[in-house]
Amino acid sequence: MLDNLKPQPADKILALMQSFRDDPRADKIDLGVGVYKDAEGRTPVMRAVRTAGKRLWETEQTKSYVGLLGDPAYGDALRDLILGDSVDPGQVSAAATPGGTGALRQGFELIRLAAPDAKIWLSDPTWPNHPSIIRYLGIEMGEYRYFDNATCTVDFEGMKEDLNAVAAGDVVVLHGCCHNPTGANLTLAQWGEVADILTDRGAIPFIDIAYQGFGDGLDADAAGTRLIASRMPQTLIAASCSKNFGIYRERTGLLMAITHDAKLKTVAQGTLAFLNRQNFSFPPDHGARLVTTILTDPDLRADWQAELEEVRAGMLRLRTQLADELRQRSNSDRFDFIAHHRGMFSRIGATPEQVEQMRKTNGIYMVGDSRMNIAGLNARTVPILAQAILDAGA
Ligand code: LMR
Repeated sequence: MLDNLKPQPADKILALMQSFRDDPRADKIDLGVGVYKDAEGRTPVMRAVRTAGKRLWETEQTKSYVGLLGDPAYGDALRDLILGDSVDPGQVSAAATPGGTGALRQGFELIRLAAPDAKIWLSDPTWPNHPSIIRYLGIEMGEYRYFDNATCTVDFEGMKEDLNAVAAGDVVVLHGCCHNPTGANLTLAQWGEVADILTDRGAIPFIDIAYQGFGDGLDADAAGTRLIASRMPQTLIAASCSKNFGIYRERTGLLMAITHDAKLKTVAQGTLAFLNRQNFSFPPDHGARLVTTILTDPDLRADWQAELEEVRAGMLRLRTQLADELRQRSNSDRFDFIAHHRGMFSRIGATPEQVEQMRKTNGIYMVGDSRMNIAGLNARTVPILAQAILDAGA
């Protein structure tokens, strides 16, 4: 049996992570995988997470099973963080999942179960694991235009034109905020136009929100998701706590299915539980419990928000510094988009050859499509990157 196996394609982000580790140069710069790093290059445990962890260690009395959907308090707390009061909580089914990827996987499986003929539409470009999982599940897939590589801004006219061609019952995946890989995001007015088009087409939105709090703040980053959830009859949402709580390895995610038809809620909730049972049974609990502890304790929550805000402000400072350096060194404003992008990533419009040159000559690692992780920089390395970008001819 095992002799039938063929080598699987490597995930380009994870392969880049390995090449960076293998590079012996001391001055190499990692702008690859989407993990937050402070100015010293560390990915710290957040203060509130450490406190919540200690508290759990002291008070947790059992490690017995929770439930197929996870701890309901976790689902409630994260639902409220993401959706605010945009929808009636009674309309939301939620299942804890192993990370945001687990939520996406379960969501795609739910789509395959409920609408086997539906096509799933992804932004061009998108996070490479979206098409990879959809292809693996054998679901039909399409792309809608999203990014203008020449200006490094959202190609909203192209996006609208393509969304206007999706069929009734198709699913459209949208990045809730901090678009990965581009960093270019929709305005709230544009979210409203997208909701109009999807309503008109009878399509179902599936929002992937993995960076809430990294762009313009916790509420601002959820505004598009809230608008969609409040206006569309049915919405799926995959959420991750990996980044905004810094608990990557704890695998803490949530899949939500929102329906304004109360009759559908029970069957949706049951299906989420069924799908969890088929794939891994009970979802991981430790990270979820850390998140619940933080979100339900006013002091811990305030401390978490303050630290998240420091992280966000730090990334914005790096964006401004990099755009300034590039403006001065290139004597042009063509890189100003870096200051306007939001979140952890910016796609800077360099060719794969230019990206390769920066890796070879300067030990700078960014994804081949020229996505860079802003958090991999610090005040000292920004000028080095700016010069490398220009030397590569980008
Ligand atoms: C990324 O895009 O770099 C992160 O979401 C990490 C991953 O799993 O790819």
